[in-house]
Amino acid sequence: MRSHASESVAVEDANFEGVSTSGELLRTEGLRKTFRSGSQEIAPLDGIDLSLERGEMVAIVGPSGAGKSTLLHLLAALDTPTSGAVYFAGNSLRSLAEGELAEYRNRAVGFVWQRHHLLPDFTAAENVAMPLLVRGQALGQALHAAEDWLAEVGLANRAGQRAGELSGGEQQRVAIARALVNHPVLLLADEPTGDLDERSAEAVFELIERLHRSHHLTSILATHNLSLARRTDRVLALEHGKLAPGAEVLAGAAARAARPASTGVRPPGERG
Ligand SMILES: Nc1ncnc2c1ncn2[C@@H]1O[C@H](COP(=O)(O)OP(=O)(O)OP(=O)(O)O)[C@@H](O)[C@H]1O
Ligand SMILES: [Mg+2]
Repeated sequence: MRSHASESVAVEDANFEGVSTSGELLRTEGLRKTFRSGSQEIAPLDGIDLSLERGEMVAIVGPSGAGKSTLLHLLAALDTPTSGAVYFAGNSLRSLAEGELAEYRNRAVGFVWQRHHLLPDFTAAENVAMPLLVRGQALGQALHAAEDWLAEVGLANRAGQRAGELSGGEQQRVAIARALVNHPVLLLADEPTGDLDERSAEAVFELIERLHRSHHLTSILATHNLSLARRTDRVLALEHGKLAPGAEVLAGAAARAARPASTGVRPPGERG
């Protein structure tokens, strides 16, 4: 992103904590994504207008297949929209050259996957160091930074352990350290607690909350866990290709939780 002055600022912000903690960071306009399935076309995203302020933590909820992962992939520039645009710090991702996009993915965005995607035969520190090595940093320096990050996520004593030997919760902590090792401004987490038991999910969510605050991140979490979602600044519900305020979804969940189990009454069409 070095060729455009304003884009350089966006990337520098990523390395300079505490700067520009207000104002819009991310915006989408009429974002649409279609996939072809045989003769049918499906549009999981059918006109998404989203604006995210710096420092916000937003949860995106919605049924399986609603398009949550698809949306996060477009925001991370891991995929391109069929139409519409994503703006990061005022710049359309569409206007960036391939090298600038690579820099955006590597430097501006930290991505946490539901299934961590660690390299099981590499150590925790080597996994965390990977984005730094991709950037061309020397191995020793990268491993040193990785160890600092592992300490920050509570795994100082696991740096030399093979990732495949760690528990699910520990692996997700390593994945979070890997996502943040380049000091991104934007954290995108796709069901980061989806594969974990309740206790590990709570611990991982608390870690994300803490890092979100201490590193002045702007964060979007896709999640099925409504009790965790309601602890974010704002909940958005994705359904039928559109994003809407998630208040209704949360109220419905609260009403179901309050209903005595003995009634056994379930509205038609209720999931689960
Ligand atoms: N590469 C692809 N090719 C074809 N269809 C796809 C592709 N990626 C996603 N889809 C379809 O788009 C829709 C949205 O998928 P997506 O994975 O974004 O949903 P999701 O909300 O993340 O679901 P989950 O909660 O199960 O993770 C689904 O119908 C899915 O089958
Ligand atoms: Mg998904």
